[in-house]
Amino acid sequence: MTQPQHVAPPEPVPLGHWPTPLEPLPRLSEELGGPKIWLKRDDCTGLATGGNKTRKLEYLLGEAIATGCNTVITFGAVQSNHARQTAAACAKLGLDCHLILSHQVNTGHRQISQNYANGGNVLLDKLMGAHCYFVDPQETKATYTRLKSELEGAGQRIYTIPAGGSNPLGALGYSQCAQELQTQFSAARLNPGCIVHASSSAGTQAGLLYGFARLGVQPKILGINVYHADPTHLANRVNKLLEEMAARYGAIDPQWQPQVAVNHAYIGEGYGQPTAETLGAIELAATLEGVIFDPAYSGKALAAVIDQINLGNFHAHDDVVLIHTGGAAAVNVYQWD
Ligand SMILES: Cc1ncc(COP(=O)(O)O)c(C=O)c1O
Repeated sequence: MTQPQHVAPPEPVPLGHWPTPLEPLPRLSEELGGPKIWLKRDDCTGLATGGNKTRKLEYLLGEAIATGCNTVITFGAVQSNHARQTAAACAKLGLDCHLILSHQVNTGHRQISQNYANGGNVLLDKLMGAHCYFVDPQETKATYTRLKSELEGAGQRIYTIPAGGSNPLGALGYSQCAQELQTQFSAARLNPGCIVHASSSAGTQAGLLYGFARLGVQPKILGINVYHADPTHLANRVNKLLEEMAARYGAIDPQWQPQVAVNHAYIGEGYGQPTAETLGAIELAATLEGVIFDPAYSGKALAAVIDQINLGNFHAHDDVVLIHTGGAAAVNVYQWD
């Protein structure tokens, strides 16, 4: 059997502030009477209100630049944080940015405000000079094909980033978070019982699992499904990305083969639809810690941590790490009543 040829990833382009802090949430931990909760502040990456996509974009846009591209096309839901961070990174690097934003969220939900189509991330996308195309999900592919051919016809060199920046290279970018966390765990003498984060396009989860496995450690990582109606789709995507990363960037020692864990209990009525518990969790963290989580992603992960503590699934003497993956830019497109 022939061995796969590993490739060297492109030089990443610096976009973020590293390392992001790992800080305790003492007042929230005390309120819940459970384990010590630590927050990994990937909402503080510095790129136009921050978020997990900055790590992926350092690698993806590194490749865009290395291959001589001057124009980026990417995809997301209307209030995509990935799209907003891509717009920010393109502005910083002088790249032309095109965002195909699809109507994936049922805006009839009582918690979604009238601002949904124009405020929050969309306002920032436009402020940063991105070209936005609002489409129904089934029009995404045709819009992309048309746009790409128009831009190429005008002499632009296109770099396409998948939704969420979740391909093997983007996930490799996120694996840097595992490296950072491991250094922070060693410095603080932490051996966390669980690392929790919101998971949707799978690159964050695959990146973390790959990064820790390559370091030869295996903390429990729990992805809170916030997107897929069927959570097996998320687990399959994580596994597929892991296989692709191993084939491209270096195999994982079988001893450290990652365990993909996905929890589907906090998605509520679906993607972008906060539950009462999501909103309650966001308010609790805001009032006790002055940290803002978002209703579609990080707030659901926070609600999961709170619920798992209340259920007694995290032990009082444990340390639990929650990764704040960002999203606060979307807070004002939701209804707070
Ligand atoms: C704020 C936030 N958290 C978490 C995620 C999930 O990350 P991933 O798509 O890599 O699973 C996203 C994805 O868009 C996000 O915007």
